[in-house]
Amino acid sequence: MKRRSDQHRDRLDAHVFVCTNDREEHDCCAGADGEAVATAIKQWLRDRDAFWTAVSVSTTDCLGLCSADGAALTIQPRNEWYSDVRPEDVPELLAAEFGPEADQTGAGPTSAPADD
Ligand code: FES
Repeated sequence: MKRRSDQHRDRLDAHVFVCTNDREEHDCCAGADGEAVATAIKQWLRDRDAFWTAVSVSTTDCLGLCSADGAALTIQPRNEWYSDVRPEDVPELLAAEFGPEADQTGAGPTSAPADD
């Protein structure tokens, strides 16, 4: 076992986890375009040279914010949580979190919307 926290903390400012969980019995992010949301996030970051440099992105199982209206995601270590995210929401969400040019990735949310 290797503890690599210092190495990763030095490299990354944030990690976005996007739910792509698929299931039959309840609403799920796979059925609400979770993969498309993850792809849109990666592309937005790539366009600003921030993907896998300042911010990494991973898909994950259920985050407990299930909805038929959009995917759930969390941004760590900020402890920020979103649900009902549609692919078209991604530019506004990421600009609010990381700045329009993704040049504030280590700063915390810059203009995140208020909680519902
Ligand atoms: S299925 Fe995505 S948060 Fe539960």
